[in-house]
Order: sequence, then structure tokens, then C-alpha cells
Amino acid sequence: MTRKILVTSALPYANGPIHIGHMVEYIQTDIWARFQRLRGNSCYYVCADDAHGTPIMLRAQQEGIEPQELIDQVNKEHREDFAGFNVQFDNYHTTHSEENRILSEAVYLAARDAGHIDTKVIKQAYDPEAEMFLPDRFIKGDCPNCGTSDQYGDNCEACGATYSTTEVKNAYSVVTGATPIEKDSEHHFFKLGNFTDFLAEWLASGAVQKEVVNKMNEWVEDGLADWDISRDAPYWGFKIPDTEDKYFYVWLDAPIGYLASFKNMCDRTGESFDDYWAEGSDAEVYHFIGKDIAYFHTLFWPAQLKAAGYRLPTGVNCHGFLKVNGEKMSKSRGTFIQARVFLNHLPAEQLRYYFAAKLSNSIDDIDLNLEDFQVRSNSELVGKLVNIASRCAGFVNKRFDNTLAAELPDPELYAQFSKASEEIAESYETRQYSRAMRQIMGLADLANQYIDSNKPWVLIKDEATFDQVQGICTQGINMFRALIGYLKPVLPELAQKSEAFLNAGELNWESVQTPLLNHQVTKFKPLMTRIEGTQIEAMLEENNAVLVAMQDKANKPKLSKHLTDDPIKPEISYEDFDKIDLRIARIDKAEAVKGADKLICLTLDVGGEKRQVFAGIKSAYEPEALVGKLTVMVANLAPRKMRFGLSEGMVLAAGPGGSDLFVLHPDDGADAGMRVK
Ligand code: MSP
Ligand code: ZN
Repeated sequence: MTRKILVTSALPYANGPIHIGHMVEYIQTDIWARFQRLRGNSCYYVCADDAHGTPIMLRAQQEGIEPQELIDQVNKEHREDFAGFNVQFDNYHTTHSEENRILSEAVYLAARDAGHIDTKVIKQAYDPEAEMFLPDRFIKGDCPNCGTSDQYGDNCEACGATYSTTEVKNAYSVVTGATPIEKDSEHHFFKLGNFTDFLAEWLASGAVQKEVVNKMNEWVEDGLADWDISRDAPYWGFKIPDTEDKYFYVWLDAPIGYLASFKNMCDRTGESFDDYWAEGSDAEVYHFIGKDIAYFHTLFWPAQLKAAGYRLPTGVNCHGFLKVNGEKMSKSRGTFIQARVFLNHLPAEQLRYYFAAKLSNSIDDIDLNLEDFQVRSNSELVGKLVNIASRCAGFVNKRFDNTLAAELPDPELYAQFSKASEEIAESYETRQYSRAMRQIMGLADLANQYIDSNKPWVLIKDEATFDQVQGICTQGINMFRALIGYLKPVLPELAQKSEAFLNAGELNWESVQTPLLNHQVTKFKPLMTRIEGTQIEAMLEENNAVLVAMQDKANKPKLSKHLTDDPIKPEISYEDFDKIDLRIARIDKAEAVKGADKLICLTLDVGGEKRQVFAGIKSAYEPEALVGKLTVMVANLAPRKMRFGLSEGMVLAAGPGGSDLFVLHPDDGADAGMRVK
């Protein structure tokens, strides 16, 4: 029986370009969707841009264009990027669409009529100059707990404290630099607590990975708070029905964008929306998402669907994050690689394969090591896989009139290929792509061994063994064909070129069961070329240039405003300065701090003396990467008690924040304990 399946990937924000971290998800989903179709199932893959919210409104303002113009432009770029990676959507829409407006209103009204919406007046930070309420990330100031300056409005990177934006000292609006005031406003809340039992049951249903369920259950057990789903004007989004100037918070209408994109497709193709989304539907629905947005997809979203009477997803498939060269993607290291820049220099197919070779069904992060990427692409795809065909095709083309023999000389060996079908399918089905790639490449090794030991290039020289060569090549080409069939979800372009060579129509999952015999192939053309180191270098170079240009553009209005408004502290004497004892310290130990996302607990060696220091640098460094390195610390700062323990000093960091923070001192002759002057 063929299955009816709908899959989605998370809707990328319309305020920036697609980067290769995003691509993990879209490639993962695309492989799964292509696999299902190859198996003969019906599988729709829909997505859209997430086109609402304050960042998009402000970016449009900054560029002096209407939000509509910005999201149209980004939509076009996103579509081109995805197409460049052979990600094949059945529909790519936008959340700023009529379908989404209608569906969002309907979901909201159903929830309201069932008593799941409350209104409450709350106090919020307000920028009197921009005349707008400020989301937490648009307020900065000094931490109310430890006094560190330039901290975001809801938490401190230095001490890990979390607080409300109204508690921040010397707060300023990132939009205008103005001092925020407090203002009352009525907000609409979705009463998530009403869904506690329902959500506990849904989390236990098997639709979500165990690791994710455990995290979400913590939230459920702590008691689910009301969810603030409204924002005040000015806001770029949909107006809430029966209000003057309240808008849906972007995360209310974003997942409804899945429904809206599918609806848009149905209206175009005549497919039935209800067949997939009505309660009791026998179709399967899967959302592919990153672990950072599990909360929205496994708590809020099921509750929204339930409240509005839709069916629930069959599965929410969560993946980990992409690292590059073992570290978080970072703008300063130039590893925040844009999809477009990658495509300008390197082939998409190889990245699809590399991700597949690394992906599993867990939420573990995966690493793109650029050198390893080059080596594996060349050795596994060109050296191993494509080589099977090129070793055999020449003889068949030139010496046997493009014709394959009538029989396989080694049917048992071929049976190993055809019998692997269900095991490989099982790996794809359960998203264990790395296992699938291992299974397939194991078979590729067998094929190469077969050719190596039969030596067709020797046999072709002798009249007596000339005919054997046709058989050997027929065996080789059929093994190659089986491998391509199995890899078709991952390597659609290579599959297409191979199909042209094989000259027997499109491969599907069953093709491998019937080898091609007594059949004419076409002239073999090179299927894939090696990746050169220079391509990677050129890609990184262009990427750096693009990042710098973007940074300049983004920083201009904001930074200049902030820097000129942020007064330099009162002058100090040399004696004051001399009181600060700056020392080189060697990082002996670095550990993440439980319960504090941004903190790393450092054990520092200051020339024999050990100090424990909590530093808010996790956004820029993995703890392991710091061990053994040198940094500069204030060695005579009075110890301070923090909620995680005693902090005995401070390390000096510079940079705009996030992944761009620099604490390391080059190891050029400096040693632990040395004074810094
Ligand atoms: N707009 C929201 C999703 C709304 S879905 C109703 C959003 N957008 S995003 O552009 O930030 O991310 C889109 C997807 O890409 C998310 O699933 C996110 O987890 C994923 N990734 C973003 N950066 C990533 C990596 N570095 N690595 C792997 N996946 C990453 O969130
Ligand atoms: Zn602090």
C-alpha cells in the first residue's frame, strides 16, 4: 500500500540569507522526501519563508524599503539557494500570505471561543523615540546582578543571571539608543496550561525523540505558563481579530504557515487539504526541525492544532546543529558560510553526500570539516563510486558496441547488492543516513574488489579472454547501477547523469532487483569531478568578504548611534590603572555550567596559583577548545559569589558579542603568570 505523506522543514526567517547550517535541515528533509517517492509513496514537501516579526520590520526600515519589498527579495534568494542544492519543494510559500492570514485567524478564534485565550495588562519596555515596545533582544544595558555593561535585556553573559528587561541598569534601546520607559499594554495569552494533560500524553506517544521528550517534560512538570501571543503596533504581522492595533506574535502564525503553504499547493493542484489535516486523517505528517525550536513544535504547535481541531503531526524530527571545523559557525572565523557563496565555488551534491554521511536520527551536532569534506568527496564519490562505472564503461563503449552481456558472470555477488535493499531502506526510513551511506559504500568496496581481481584491462589484450571482459563490465555496470539507485535520494544530479548513461529510464527503488542485460548503454561522460583545495580557499575568501560587507551594513546605523551615545567612563589616574593586575593565565580546565547557557567555568593557572572564573563566553567558544590556551585576566579583582559558585577574577574579552568574542592570547612566548603591561 502506498503511503500518503506530507513533510515540512522549518520556515527560514526572511531577514537573512540561507547558510550551510540551515542546509543540514533542508537536505535532511529533501533526502527523506526523495527516498519516499523513490519507494513509490506519495510524499509532498512544503515550506515557506517566515516573513513576520520585529527584526524584519527593522531591517526593512534600515534599508529604507517596505517590509513587503524586503520579504519578496529574500523569498527569491531563498528559492534560488534551495534550488541550487537540489532541494525540491512541492510548494514554497510565505507566512505573509492570504492563506496564512485566514488560517491564523481561524486557529486563534477557535482557541478563543473554546476559552483558551486570556487578556492581561502587562508592563513592558518602550522606546519613546521609536514609539514602539521593545523585544528583549532590542534592549541592552548593565547587568542588575554583577554590573557588566552592554548585556542583553533578559540575561547576562558574564554572570549568567536572568532578569526582566525592566531591571536592566542604564538600559538603552538598540533601535534608537534612547532610554526605554515602562508602559502598560494589554496582551493576549494562549492558556497553554489548559493543555497540560494533553501535551503529556502527546509527548509520550512516540512522535518525538526521547532526548527531546525528556527536555519538554521538564517544562510540563514545572507548569506551563500562559503564552503571550500578541504584540503592539508598530509590528509587521497579522492584526488580531476584534482588536484595534494588536498583532499576532510571529511564532503564533509561523507554524500555521505549514498549513498555509500546503493549502496554497492544494488550491493549485486540486489535492485535498482535509485529507491531510482533518482530525482522523490517515496521511502521515512530519516536521523536520532543529533542536533550538523543539519547544515551539512539541508544545505550542500541538496545542494550537488541538485547539483548532486539526490532526497532530505523526512525528517531529529534530536534528542537531552544524559546526564547521569542530567549532560553532562563526562570522569572525569566516565559517558562517552562506549557501550562495558555497555554490559559487563548490558542488552541491558533494555537500549533500557529506551531510548524509554524518546525519543520524539523534539531536547530536554534526561537524563539517572542510579538509575532510574534500578528502571524502574525492575518495568516496569520485575514487570509489564513479570509478566503478568509468573503469567499465570505456570497454563497453569502444569494444562491445555499447552493449551489455546477456548474463552476469557473478550472480551471487550481484545478489548481495539486491538483497541489501530492505536494510538500506530501513536506514533511510529511520533517518539513519550515516548508516545507509556505510552500507552503500561497503557494497562499492565489493564492486571495486571485483574489478581489481578480474583485471579487465589485462584480459582485453588477449583474443582468448576478450569476451570475458564484456561480462565483467556488465557485472560492474550493474553493481554501479544498484549503488546509484540507492544513492538517488542523496545524489539526484549524479543519478540523472547515470540514468542518461544507462539508457533505461529512471531508476526507482525496485530497479536494482532486475539487472540490465543485453542492453545498449550510451557513451559514458565524466559524472563528477574532484574538489580542489583552491576551490575551498576561494569559497572562504569570498565568504569573508561577504560577511564583512554584511557586518558593515548591519552595524552602520546601530553602532554609530550607540558608540556616540555611550559615554566613555570618567578619567582615571595612572595610579588607578596601576591597581589593575593583568596577568597571562593558562586555561587548565574549561567546563560548561549547568543551568547557564552562556557561561564557561574556567580553572586558570596564573603561574602556580589557581583561580576559578566564570566567563560569559560560551557563545563564542566550545569549552574543550579553550583548554591549554592562554588568556589575559584581571588577577586582583575581589572574588564575587555567583549563583554557580565563587568567581575569582575576570578574563578580558573583546568583540561585538555572540560568536564574535575574543579571549585568547597568542602563545608567542608568553607564559602563565606573566604581567601584562
Ligand atoms: N523561523 C523559525 C522557524 C519557524 S518554523 C514554524 C526559525 N528560522 S531559522 O531561519 O532561524 O532556522 C530555520 C531552521 O534552520 C531551524 O530548524 C533551525 O534549527 C535550523 N538551523 C539554523 N542554524 C542551524 C545550524 N547551524 N545547524 C543546523 N540547523 C540549523 O527558526
Ligand atoms: Zn551579570
